[in-house]
Amino acid sequence: MSHEDQKFQMTQIKAILFGASGMIGQGVLRECLLDPEVASVLCVARSSTAQHDPKLREVVHKDFLDFSPIEKELGGFDACIFCLGVSSVGMSEEDYRRITYGITLAAAETLAKLNPQMTFIYISGAGTDSTEQGRTMWARVKGQTENALLRLPFKAAYMFRPALIIPLHGIKSKTFAYRISYAVLRPLLPLMKILFPRYVTTTEQLGRAMLIAAKRGAPKRVLEVPDINSL
Ligand SMILES: NC(=O)c1ccc[n+]([C@@H]2O[C@H](COP(=O)([O-])OP(=O)(O)OC[C@H]3O[C@@H](n4cnc5c(N)ncnc54)[C@H](OP(=O)(O)O)[C@@H]3O)[C@@H](O)[C@H]2O)c1
Repeated sequence: MSHEDQKFQMTQIKAILFGASGMIGQGVLRECLLDPEVASVLCVARSSTAQHDPKLREVVHKDFLDFSPIEKELGGFDACIFCLGVSSVGMSEEDYRRITYGITLAAAETLAKLNPQMTFIYISGAGTDSTEQGRTMWARVKGQTENALLRLPFKAAYMFRPALIIPLHGIKSKTFAYRISYAVLRPLLPLMKILFPRYVTTTEQLGRAMLIAAKRGAPKRVLEVPDINSL
């Protein structure tokens, strides 16, 4: 058995989820609740998801730049799946950075301190700029966020970069612009998945792939759509 296999020997995981009310987070939560290898899932959110399940627990928290008031709730986890995020459309770089980099690192630094054996899974996006030097604001900020996460002392950290995501099982985005785009594109989505498999995934595939990485690791630290779909 390789060292990497030994690192991921576990029967059931305890997961923590950020962004559970969002489109991607709803998909991940669904897969967590269905997966017998997930013992429990804790959602950290600004408001309750209003879902009830014996495996689900929630912590409602207001200031996502400071997790010190809820630190005692955040220890003892094997994996964090971080799906909290916003579209940069109409946002200043400062505001976008505060959420994308600021909130993500505030959560991740707290979790790394409390759970050195944790696997951290982050949703960024296709086109993220790892050089941090490019001209596209959102891609630079996501690149800085990914790079900072990869430097933290987690057991493992994986950056997921989806492009077009087809929402399944009645899941909807919280972002107005995305909801409009999906409504317009809906009739074309199944065809787009066939024509552009390198760019399209579904909330179900993404959720399952993130859980596989959380439970058993993944072959790469940065996963593009084909890597996600082949997990
Ligand atoms: N959707 C796509 O097609 C797609 C594709 C590639 C990458 N992504 C990336 O994936 C991430 C999530 O996308 P999504 O489509 O799931 O977004 P979404 O449906 O708009 O959900 C956003 C989630 O983030 C939370 N959130 C946003 N701002 C917050 C804040 N200031 N404090 C605390 N929580 C906050 C929301 O919680 P509340 O319920 O409290 O608002 C919600 O749970 C984004 O970074 C996005 O760029 C999305």
